[in-house]
Amino acid sequence: MQHWVSMQEYEPAQLAKLVQSALRHKRGATDEASALRERILTMVFFNPSLRTRTSFEAAMLRGGGHAICLNVGGDTWKLEHRSGVVMDGPCSEHIREAAPVLSRYGDLLAVRTFAALHDPAEDAKDQVIRAFADHATVPVINMESALEHPCQGMADWMTIQEKLGSTSGRRFVLTWAPHVKALPMAVPHSAVLAAAAAGMQVTVTHPPGYELNAGILDRVAGWCALAGTELNVSTDQQTACRDADVVYVKSWGSPELYDQAERQRADFARYADWTVGTEHVGPDGILMHCLPVRRNLVIADALLDDPRSVVVDQAENRMWIQSAIINRLLEGAGSSTSSST
Ligand code: CP
Repeated sequence: MQHWVSMQEYEPAQLAKLVQSALRHKRGATDEASALRERILTMVFFNPSLRTRTSFEAAMLRGGGHAICLNVGGDTWKLEHRSGVVMDGPCSEHIREAAPVLSRYGDLLAVRTFAALHDPAEDAKDQVIRAFADHATVPVINMESALEHPCQGMADWMTIQEKLGSTSGRRFVLTWAPHVKALPMAVPHSAVLAAAAAGMQVTVTHPPGYELNAGILDRVAGWCALAGTELNVSTDQQTACRDADVVYVKSWGSPELYDQAERQRADFARYADWTVGTEHVGPDGILMHCLPVRRNLVIADALLDDPRSVVVDQAENRMWIQSAIINRLLEGAGSSTSSST
């Protein structure tokens, strides 16, 4: 069973094919989503969403299928993922039952489950989405997990391809920005994985103490080497952004300050001058952010409202790339729904 849990489970060439498929579909090639017809996608949300939920629903409807949305702890039971625990807490149901049950109703299972941001080593295990992948009998799609947001990363790649015409050897800079609370690293991880797989020169810039997951950076460096490019990590935002083709902005929390909200807030204030403005993007560069974005804290109004900002195109491309991903998973899964007993 092939899932869409991590970009790292695919080769860069396979990922590039998905981008090409999504671009063809966006230009009107309907056969790029032919497998979606009369199929059901069940989406399980442990966390809120605007774009992810809507873009998946729209992708399924446009392809002639249907999407069901469940909000864990809201309109459905709280779910346990750990093995061997006595379930005397808030969770009424275990993923061991929920995943196979939902697999009987639909053709695909999509899950959003953010990092807990208590222990980076625990987050790196990505246990909730892995539990769904272990116990589902249909393909599982990652709608943002503790470690990755692969649909976002692929939509970002598609957007860069559209805007720049090519990705090979172009300069991609991911810059950290301040916030009001610690945020997960799934989006920055997927952004740099996608940029590396796309053959770009990758630079990550952040203040000391905001290092991304070492395993992800190893994979990014490996994919860069394969493409003849390099990964650089820097604490000098101004220099890093100079001459960038893409300035990708994202806030994330310091792993050293998890569970220390006051110290994290003070650290954000210390690096308040990392807010990204028009001066960080060259005349031919593009500004990217996954959204939602806090204006004038993460990115200045003047830059978000500038033609160099492609954030709305990125959000639209979520729908097209997800169609391509679903199409590929359904083709790989064969034509029948799972009903093995
Ligand atoms: N970028 C993104 O995943 O947006 P939502 O959190 O609104 O789904």
